[in-house]
Amino acid sequence: MNDDVQKYVFGAILAFLVVVGGFVFFLFLNACDFTFTCRRGDHLVNRTPVPTLIPATMPAATQSGEAGQVPTSDQCRVSAVNFVGAWVNAGASDKEAFQFTDVNGQTCESSFEEVQPLFVQSNYWYSGSLACASCHAADVTISPAQLDLSSYEGILAGSRRESADVKKGTDILGKGNWTSSLLYQYVSANQTDIPGHNALMTDVLIYVGRPLAPTATETPTATAVVPTPTP
Ligand code: HEC
Repeated sequence: MNDDVQKYVFGAILAFLVVVGGFVFFLFLNACDFTFTCRRGDHLVNRTPVPTLIPATMPAATQSGEAGQVPTSDQCRVSAVNFVGAWVNAGASDKEAFQFTDVNGQTCESSFEEVQPLFVQSNYWYSGSLACASCHAADVTISPAQLDLSSYEGILAGSRRESADVKKGTDILGKGNWTSSLLYQYVSANQTDIPGHNALMTDVLIYVGRPLAPTATETPTATAVVPTPTP
């Protein structure tokens, strides 16, 4: 009888220890996995780490010019959507210049160098806008739509790429036809349910490119009328 009670008591203590031990083990696994280098249980550092603030990456918004740009006097003014469109329709080259018509009907010229900021600069489409590439970053495994807009190669490679090794995903440039491209759809149509895609983009005017010199028309050559000297 006495033995039985002892057995129950020891049994209960043992079971209790097993349960507690198991629980602690479970918590540890949950937080740290099978590793002993995990520091999640450490005390918080009570010092102020240096530097105190993470530097802000957004450039200060400016008041002059739309889309936060300061225009230079000889630049063309064009809607950002049409500007990217002209680049796509001209074959989306990273080297060759392309032409577009600005809001005043002038023919202007530009190159990929001026297209790229639209993808990689914050505050460009509107004040406070995130750079496309801050979401659609080089690592396609974590970037939304598996799309890398941080480089020319990434833009051409397109979306829905499982890894950086996949060189051809879903074409976002509509095979050179702007208005049927995914890119057009996502910067012009109002994708309000998608973060980073904002109705404000649709009618943003930017200053880019240079007007082409007016085509040389026949300038009348001045013929000097030399009065015939009268004797
Ligand atoms: C805040 C993050 C964010 C920003 C900034 C952002 N996007 Fe997106 N984008 C998304 C998400 C989320 C989707 C939808 C992903 C999906 O459908 O799986 C998307 C989808 C797209 C798609 C469609 C791809 C496909 O195959 O369906 C294109 C094209 C695109 N974005 C271009 C852009 C461009 C150009 C910019 C900059 C003007 C931009 N994005 C800025 C988050 C962002």
